[in-house]
Amino acid sequence: MTLSVGVLLSGGGSNLQSIVDHIDEGFLEARIRVVLSNEPKAGGLARAQKHRIQTSVLDHRSYSSREEHDSALLKVLQAEGVEVVCLAGYMRLLGKSLVRAYPGRILNIHPALLPSFPGLDAQQQAADYGVRISGATVHFVDEFLDHGPIIIQGAVPAYPGEGRDDLARRILTLEHRIYPQALQWLARDRLRLTDGRVHLLPDKERSVKGSRSQPLLVNPPLEEGF
Ligand code: GRF
Repeated sequence: MTLSVGVLLSGGGSNLQSIVDHIDEGFLEARIRVVLSNEPKAGGLARAQKHRIQTSVLDHRSYSSREEHDSALLKVLQAEGVEVVCLAGYMRLLGKSLVRAYPGRILNIHPALLPSFPGLDAQQQAADYGVRISGATVHFVDEFLDHGPIIIQGAVPAYPGEGRDDLARRILTLEHRIYPQALQWLARDRLRLTDGRVHLLPDKERSVKGSRSQPLLVNPPLEEGF
């Protein structure tokens, strides 16, 4: 099934780009119906236009409440036949009515291993804390910030002494792989939400193997004998 996707963003849109690229390369069975931004200058808008994807700017500052802004977003999403909403660097919390309009059909990507470091600049939070492993999370969205059933997580090492930006770059590279993967599972109807947990069903039509060897990530690395 080709999934009809709407993308909400506020910034540069590199995650949008990776979704578009995976569609173009035939790995992701989806079509982006519309890209919505609350920021008129978001770089993601130009990326969408370059790929002839419809865009719409709904500046939250022009609305008197979150509910009004959300309901304007919802109108566009519904008018475009969007089935699944992807938050890709969308810097606003969604209100209840929007979340309830797409039950189990809104995804978010967060640059940390949730439930650690929700909120703004998760990469800085992780670097400040001194964690040795961080990563990224794709999850279904509920009414709370960076919260909801987890679909996929990926981990990267974090090194003492490196800056926030080096860690952020490593995490972003991973984001660009796990977000399209989560969407493809949804497109093939392989995700089931039971008791707040996400289960991944096997692909009925084809056998899909893990694309790379997946070693345990331990950082600093284990030494011989352990
Ligand atoms: C990403 O780090 C994402 O995890 C977070 O916002 C950032 C968006 O980056 N929610 P981009 O606009 O997709 O490049």
